[in-house]
Amino acid sequence: MAKRLGTSAGDIEQAAQALRAGRLVAFPTETVYGLGAVATNDRAVAAIFAAKGRPRFNPLIVHVTDAGAARAVARWNETAERLAARFWPGALTLVLPRAGGAPLALLVSAGGDTVGLRAPAHPVAQALLTATGLPVAAPSANPAGQVSPTTADHVAASLGDRIDIIVDGGPCPIGVESTVLDVTCTPPRLLRPGGVTRAALEVVIGPLAGPAPPGAADQGRSPGQLASHYAPARPLRLDAATVAADEALLAFGPQPLEGAAETLNLSPRGDLEAAAANLFAMLRALDRPEFRAIAVMPVPGHGLGEAIRDRLIRAAAPRAQASHHRVDALLDS
Ligand code: TXA
Ligand code: MG
Repeated sequence: MAKRLGTSAGDIEQAAQALRAGRLVAFPTETVYGLGAVATNDRAVAAIFAAKGRPRFNPLIVHVTDAGAARAVARWNETAERLAARFWPGALTLVLPRAGGAPLALLVSAGGDTVGLRAPAHPVAQALLTATGLPVAAPSANPAGQVSPTTADHVAASLGDRIDIIVDGGPCPIGVESTVLDVTCTPPRLLRPGGVTRAALEVVIGPLAGPAPPGAADQGRSPGQLASHYAPARPLRLDAATVAADEALLAFGPQPLEGAAETLNLSPRGDLEAAAANLFAMLRALDRPEFRAIAVMPVPGHGLGEAIRDRLIRAAAPRAQASHHRVDALLDS
């Protein structure tokens, strides 16, 4: 079982030493928990793919302290400069060309010529990156295809026996993953809606391209964004207007539907930030065999709602019938 650490200076130093020794360390960011390995170490990065059951064609986000550290491993451009100045540290991942001779494992790019870079704002992530002194590759700390973790307990429950250390920094305040933006093209292309909203990005750099709707054919530039993802074991029914007595209800807003076997409300006040922070923990809590399905009330698509709806649509996407998690694992992260 993974060793659990807190966030004292001594604990952070111990976690940093484990990273530098090539081991796997799960740590909190403001979006979700990441499963970290030093991004310059091929074997450590390969161990991430093995622990998650992640297919090798799906690249990893490399975490850095700041834009200066990003410039050392990527071919930086003016769009990246403006976005980093406004949104870093934060919930934004920028896809850029790898710098020639960048000391990063090829596997973080899944063999491609780009790298996804993020400077997280969470103080524990920042302290760990600073103490490690190297870029850290980290996907969400969940088995491929399953729901992302927003607490240390979530990580322990699904990956605890496959990783060395879990740094417990409490629940993640944003609760959905970072926005992934490809800035190698003009206009930049939204590959994954996330914690920084489309509207906030467009204020700084104008209209974005993408993403293709979930399940659309064009997934070429966005290898992790295949249709079924973030998937609980129970089927999900979206935009529910009624609920059955054998269903669980994921409600939103002041008037939850009545009659469900059990109800959790993403935000009784109809607040999208609160809903994002609750989303993955509530999906897990309702994913129990006694319910036939999880019915989800409509969530508006503006602001953080775009990321919430994206995750819900993928969680509801059709999967292969038997042992769908194993099949999902072949498809994505
Ligand atoms: O909030 C987050 O982004 C969390 C925390 C831990 O940073 N990480 C995360 O990683 O969600 P992951 O691996 O679960 O999702 C990363 C997404 C995937 O869809 C992957 O395909 C995409 O980012 N990605 C990473 N590098 C890329 C690249 N070079 N080109 C295109 N897409 C990339
Ligand atoms: Mg993930």
